[in-house]
Amino acid sequence: MLREKYVDLISKVNNDTYRLNFHLMPPTGWLNDPNGLCVIKGVNHIYFQYTPFSATWGLKSWGHYSTENWIDYSEHPIFLRPSISEDRDGVYSGSALVENNKIHYYYTGNVKYINKKYDYILNGREQNVIEVISEDGFNYEKKNVLLKNSDYPENMSTHVRDPKVFKIDNEYFMILGARTKEDRGCAILYKSLDLEKWEYFFEIHSEKKFGYMWECCDLINIEDKWFLICCPQGIEQEGINFANIYQFGYFPIDINFKEKTYILREFIELDRGFDIYAPQTFIDSKGRNVLIAWMGIPDATYTNSKTIENAWQHALSIPRALKRKGNKILQEPLVEFENLRKNKILSTDSHIKFLASTFELILNIENPQIFSIKIGDVALSYVNNIFSLVMKESGEGRDKRSVYLDELKKLQIFVDTSSIEIFINEGEEVFTSRFYPSKQKMNVEVFNQGSCCYYELDRFKIDIE
Ligand code: FRU
Repeated sequence: MLREKYVDLISKVNNDTYRLNFHLMPPTGWLNDPNGLCVIKGVNHIYFQYTPFSATWGLKSWGHYSTENWIDYSEHPIFLRPSISEDRDGVYSGSALVENNKIHYYYTGNVKYINKKYDYILNGREQNVIEVISEDGFNYEKKNVLLKNSDYPENMSTHVRDPKVFKIDNEYFMILGARTKEDRGCAILYKSLDLEKWEYFFEIHSEKKFGYMWECCDLINIEDKWFLICCPQGIEQEGINFANIYQFGYFPIDINFKEKTYILREFIELDRGFDIYAPQTFIDSKGRNVLIAWMGIPDATYTNSKTIENAWQHALSIPRALKRKGNKILQEPLVEFENLRKNKILSTDSHIKFLASTFELILNIENPQIFSIKIGDVALSYVNNIFSLVMKESGEGRDKRSVYLDELKKLQIFVDTSSIEIFINEGEEVFTSRFYPSKQKMNVEVFNQGSCCYYELDRFKIDIE
């Protein structure tokens, strides 16, 4: 974006007291999915779905940040924008693979025909897989259209998108999220030996229908086990489970790429908060499996009107290193976030109170019976093995989200002005949400037997290119 031309817009956004300190946000306008996560020459590149001039969706491009240490960032000009007929209605989500010092990006070129007779599910829409190649993460020569809807299997609707490419031994695979003509969510795999010619490989679906569409699929190996991370749409709420409009989680999967066989285990939710969707993983500069997600969700009943009034909306989550315990994925905030800590206060008192807006709380819990926390009007509680996050006024329509725990031992909570991320028992469960407290400094009150450590946190440094 040409920053000089939009000084007023930028100053409006930057003066918003709900801007975050240690999360990546759109410089102005709207942000959704993280895209193209990759590392080249020691630098982690983070692209994202971006519409700089509308805070409420619009024609998608890829915005761009980079970082070496996850604390200091550079903001770069838009990397990809619609420019050919195959991506004219949006450069949608996609991924990156670094091979022989070149970054290969794969994204969905979105095309929507303007004509009322189309339903945009079975017709009236194109979702093309497009590749660009770059040596530096900033420049590319041309866009190569690799796959069109006519290349997808016969049983697919027009909704096939979000290519994620990965390598096993000397073979390359691409996974895409899809909706079949019978309205079943699934993933499809393509295979390539040279990153140029892609051949259809096979389809992955659950035995019983699990939603009508799976967005943002990602097939990853953590400590020798495979997981299919995805965002299924069309799942009914079941008690405290699947409480959001769209889901964010994974299927543990036993997969044999040679035999084209797999066993999909039961879907597990990755995050129980109100504002979390569209994750992407990559191996970062330190060799960790890092997941970043959109700290937002489409089509929710609750809002972010406070930031929309100030010409921006949404942010990316704290990046999380993925580990596993059996068939379960654990998420740990990157240790680099410890470098944001200042003013440590450690207490063993069972009742503490303080005023803060940007902080981290670490609790060891010895007696869950007396545990509760209030942050402004947001309440955390643990009753009969159910951990809950309850929002009132500041939630702008957000109410309650819960999870069942065998035990509550440890909490690590990050609050950043208008966001909260709660990591329970070393990342066994996570809650990610936005909220809009009426005062910048919130009254924080903790009841806990055990220890409680509180740090004020610094902000990211972001240079603008
Ligand atoms: C997920 C998603 C993707 C799509 C992108 C468009 O949030 O709907 O499936 O590629 O957002 O911005």
